[in-house]
Amino acid sequence: MTLKSKIVIANLLIFGLILAGVSAVVYHHVRGNELARVDARLDILADQVITEFSEEWTEEEVPEWDDILALFTGRFSEERFGLQAAGGQIILGDSTLTVPDSGTRQRIRAGEIIRGTTHIRSAAYRQLIRPVEVAGRVDFWLVLITPLADVHSRLDTLLLVLCLTVPAALLVGLIAVYLATRKSLAPMSRMVTIAEETSARHLDLRIPATSGDDEVSRLGQALNGMMERIEAAFTSQRQFVGDASHELRTPLTAIISELEFAARRIDDEKAKDSLDLALVELDRLGQLVDQLLTLARIDANRLVLEKQPVRLDELIVECVRLAERDARTRGITFSIQIAEAVEIPGDDRQLKSVLLNIIDNALKHSPRDSAVTIELKDNLAIGGAVITVADNGPGIDAADLPRIFDRFYRSSTARSSREGSGLGLAIAKELIDMHGGRIQLASTVGKGTTVSIQLPAH
Ligand SMILES: Nc1ncnc2c1ncn2[C@@H]1O[C@H](COP(=O)(O)OP(=O)(O)OP(=O)(O)O)[C@@H](O)[C@H]1O
Ligand SMILES: [Mg+2]
Repeated sequence: MTLKSKIVIANLLIFGLILAGVSAVVYHHVRGNELARVDARLDILADQVITEFSEEWTEEEVPEWDDILALFTGRFSEERFGLQAAGGQIILGDSTLTVPDSGTRQRIRAGEIIRGTTHIRSAAYRQLIRPVEVAGRVDFWLVLITPLADVHSRLDTLLLVLCLTVPAALLVGLIAVYLATRKSLAPMSRMVTIAEETSARHLDLRIPATSGDDEVSRLGQALNGMMERIEAAFTSQRQFVGDASHELRTPLTAIISELEFAARRIDDEKAKDSLDLALVELDRLGQLVDQLLTLARIDANRLVLEKQPVRLDELIVECVRLAERDARTRGITFSIQIAEAVEIPGDDRQLKSVLLNIIDNALKHSPRDSAVTIELKDNLAIGGAVITVADNGPGIDAADLPRIFDRFYRSSTARSSREGSGLGLAIAKELIDMHGGRIQLASTVGKGTTVSIQLPAH
């Protein structure tokens, strides 16, 4: 679950609970107020009746029926009443009203005011029961009820309003939270993209618009600062490799030409042999320096391809011609299978160096008297060309294959040999990637290795 969803869900729960709680409090408060108002009216009416009773009959006399009737006539509007004689039966008013039982009567006599909500034919009424004294003696019980229809209708309206506004408020709140969260987390998504896109080659990526001082902006600023420091460290390290290779190249070339000159002049065979040996090693060192220089330039994005139409068939023939002598000394023949001329856009110098390295690899690992097959085909699927170089060498262990394009990586079998530094395939991959192509290596131990290079037509 994303952080955004978690924040929205947490807010939904918190907002929902708060709004539900507030609504319940409001509803109960309003209901309490409404009932208190109704109760107050019933109290006033009951007080009036009771006062009149006590004023009318001060002596120990039994109130006349007609007088009682006169006292109640026209007094109530929507209220209904019942007057119960001390004996228990309702003598006046609404006979359907519940008369208080003896327990309730005792509680009322003790001073308790009995109110409550009662239902008559499923309609709700508020009820009040009060004792009516005549000359200090409880002669009657007064039961007053008033309909709660109005109160209930107002409470229903309130409930409806709450049921409509609470979800609407929740929805509006959630949309606001969602938009605010999306806005404040947007730089985070950008940070993730940048972290994923960042590689040794793309260290110049930065998180935009991180000028605020909230946590996310500060994180962005901290990441940008970190990227700057990493980029500076990488740049100085690349600069160092580039400068070192460059500085080494000049004296190395001078030493090689001096030694070649000396080797031509020297007569002593043993000294000549050791000079030739030194020259072979220096040549390897020179190649390594060149490879390091190439990688430093690729890393610093300073190696720009000079693209032009390249005839791959001619390029292969040229590379084979250059490798011919080496192949002959190793007793290896080439089998070239080119059906037709193929032209693609590319940097022929760089493509040549790639192909020479692949051919060199095949020669280095092929047994004597075997053949290295080089094939060129139009690749209809990608609209480009595929060059394959296959040998019958020992192949590469499956455990080495995933790392074969890593810098300085040499398979376990090749590490014992002094030939090669393990940079050739790494450079080849970089250059083919720059051409928009793909290089793949398939190998079976004991059978041989096939390298295929796909190059696009555009
Ligand atoms: N045709 C092949 N057969 C068997 N192993 C190979 C073949 N091509 C490459 N490898 C293995 O892959 C490793 C890396 O090759 P890569 O071309 O990068 O380096 P290298 O040939 O050792 O040195 P460099 O090319 O820098 O002079 C080699 O050391 C070798 O172990
Ligand atoms: Mg190589």
